[in-house]
Formats: sequence, C-alpha cells, structure tokens
Amino acid sequence: MDLNTLKKKFEELFKQPSMKAFFSPGRINLIGEHTDYNGGNVFPCAITLGTYALATKRDDTLIKFYSENFSELGVITIDLNNLEDDPADKWTNYPKGMIKFLKEAGYVIDHGLNILYYGTIPNGAGLSSSASIELLTGFIVQDLFELELDRLDLIKTGQRVENEFIGVNSGIMDQFAIGKGKKDTAILLDCNTLDYEMIPVVLKDHSIVIMNTKKRRELADSKYNERRSECDQALAEFQKELNISSLGAMDEKTFDEHKAILSNETILKRARHAVTENQRTLKAATALKAGKLAEFGKLMNESHISLKDDYEVTGLELDALVQAAWDQPGVLGARMTGAGFGGCAIAIVENNTIDDFITQVGKHYQEKVGYPGEFYIAQISDGPKVMEGENL
Ligand code: GLA
Repeated sequence: MDLNTLKKKFEELFKQPSMKAFFSPGRINLIGEHTDYNGGNVFPCAITLGTYALATKRDDTLIKFYSENFSELGVITIDLNNLEDDPADKWTNYPKGMIKFLKEAGYVIDHGLNILYYGTIPNGAGLSSSASIELLTGFIVQDLFELELDRLDLIKTGQRVENEFIGVNSGIMDQFAIGKGKKDTAILLDCNTLDYEMIPVVLKDHSIVIMNTKKRRELADSKYNERRSECDQALAEFQKELNISSLGAMDEKTFDEHKAILSNETILKRARHAVTENQRTLKAATALKAGKLAEFGKLMNESHISLKDDYEVTGLELDALVQAAWDQPGVLGARMTGAGFGGCAIAIVENNTIDDFITQVGKHYQEKVGYPGEFYIAQISDGPKVMEGENL
C-alpha cells in the first residue's frame, strides 16, 4: 500500500483531499517484561512497523474514522459531543478515548475530523498496535488543533485510555516507548520515577529478528490483569515486614531474605520474576552500553526462562519459537516480547545467518504447532511524526 493509494481512498471516502500524512510506530521490548506495573525498569524501542494516517478537520462536530485494516467495517461516525465507550464502535474506541480524555483535560478540540488509518503492524501480534493508534490520534489532534501538549501528557493519556476506557490494567511501557521513540535507540525507563535514558542500540554485525507466533493475543481476554493482581498481593504481603513501595524497589537479596512471608508458591513465583527481571534489565542495559552483546543475549535468554517458569505467560507457541531460535548458530539471545500468551518473540541474529535462521526456525515452528509463523527484521524508529514526502 503506498501513500498515493491511501490519498485516493481518502478522497473517495470523504470527498475532500487529504492534507497531511502522519505516522506512529509500534514497539518491541528488548528486556524488562511485566516490570512496568511493578515499579521496575523496562528497555523497549519503537519500530518502523506502525500506523499511518491521513487526516483533515471538518466543519461540523462529527468524527469519521476509517481503517484500511478493517475496511469491512466501513466509515464509523461518532460525534465530538458523545465520546462514550461503545463496543459497537469496535477499534475506534481507542482513538475515541484519546480525544475524550484530551478534551476533558481542557484542550480545545472544537471541530470534527476525517481520519483514515492504515497499520503495518500485524493484527494482535503484541507489537502495540493499540498504543500506536492512541499516540497517533493524540499527535494528529495536537498538530491539527495546534495544542500545546507535552509529550509525557500524551503518553499518560494513552495509558489512561487502556486502563479506564478499554479496561486493560496495563503499565506505561508501550505508550512511553512509542511516544519517546528514537531511531536506533532503546529507552531504559524507570517506571517508578519515569526517569529514562536513551541508549544507542549498536549490534555490530547482528540484527533483531521479530518472530510472530501468529497466535492472536487479546490483552483484555488474557491473564494479564490476573498477573497484575498477583503481584499486588505479593507486594501487600511483603509490606507487612518491609517498607517498600513496589516490587521494583527490591533487590534479589532482600527478596530471598523475606520470601517466606509470601502466602503461596504462585505468589512467590510471580514476585520472583518481577524482582529478578528488573535486575536483569538494569544489567542488560549496562551490557549493551558497554558493547557486551553476548552478555546481553544471555540475559535475554534468562528473561524468557523466568517468564516461562515463574510468570507463566509464554505457552507452547512462544516457547517453540524461542527454543528453535536458541538452537540456531549465530544467535546471541532470544525471548518473548510484550505481554506474552502468544504474540511475538525477538532474537538477536548474526546478519549473515539470518536467511538460514528464518528457514530453520520456521520449519521447527511449523512442525511443532502445525501452522507457519512469520518473521520481520526490526528497524528501530522515531516516535510519532508528520510524514514529509516519504513513502510508506
Ligand atoms: C503489555 C502492557 C505493558 C507491559 C507489557 C509486559 O504490553 O501494555 O504495559 O506490562 O505487556 O511487559
């Protein structure tokens, strides 16, 4: 799909020319999984798979949404004066929530809009297509209505949409990774303080390969909220003995000294993952900065094992991909990325073995699960932007 085709589609649908094109990336997380809502560190980056949009203001108060990815739903029309969550409005609840919360925060959005979206993130792949659409919509509104809007406010508004509008109790990682995305750079974010460090991703003669299980994962349907409340329970139990504000504030030694207070094995495993993963993330960021790629890869592998055994969010498909990746030559490390329960994994692979890697992992995966996976080479991208004469 190229920009001209999208422009023609826009004109056909809305009977006016599109004036501006916008882009917002998706994200992968290098390491630091299920640590964001535990006050720990994450280490994600924005990717060039993302969402494009063409948009113009309207003279009335209607907002007309169309997605090339859900073309069968046609144009969905809502009114600026009625921005309530409605399951019948399907995917448009994400942009709708964004506009609603920005309006409520006092930003003047006094005209309707025509917006056409086109996403290159595979559907349900766990590469944050929803956060991509949220940030994209916020960015479009900011641009077209010339709002003085801080990027962090946009990021927090996106998280609010997930939490309060969609009903997924997710942390801030996805919106932050997308909102602050920078080409060839990963973001080490302390989710407790929101302090962050931009760290160049220099992989020498290696690339990041994204491996898609093609098993759809729906956060709302998943055990995501359950994991979150298990961690809250672990924290509340620790707080009987310790003065800590989050699991991310604990080191491994303190965890070992106090773990006996936890009421059962499941809670202990969840908390152990939150604590060890946070420490691994800090070590991994230090290793990457120092160019110690082998060490970085090893920490990625340990992260996957912890997500599999302690956090129990991997499952047959992700384990099959990651195990097959570990078995290939030229692989520094591999792990699931995102929430888990399906979605994608990533591997750091030596450039001259990538073709073989994809063939072999693809073959093993198909044998194990009975259908093919999908592979993409990740390019690390900037955050939301206006597209200037670029092609898709
Ligand atoms: C999803 C959530 C994030 C984060 C990850 C797991 O992507 O949206 O906030 O919790 O899962 O690391």
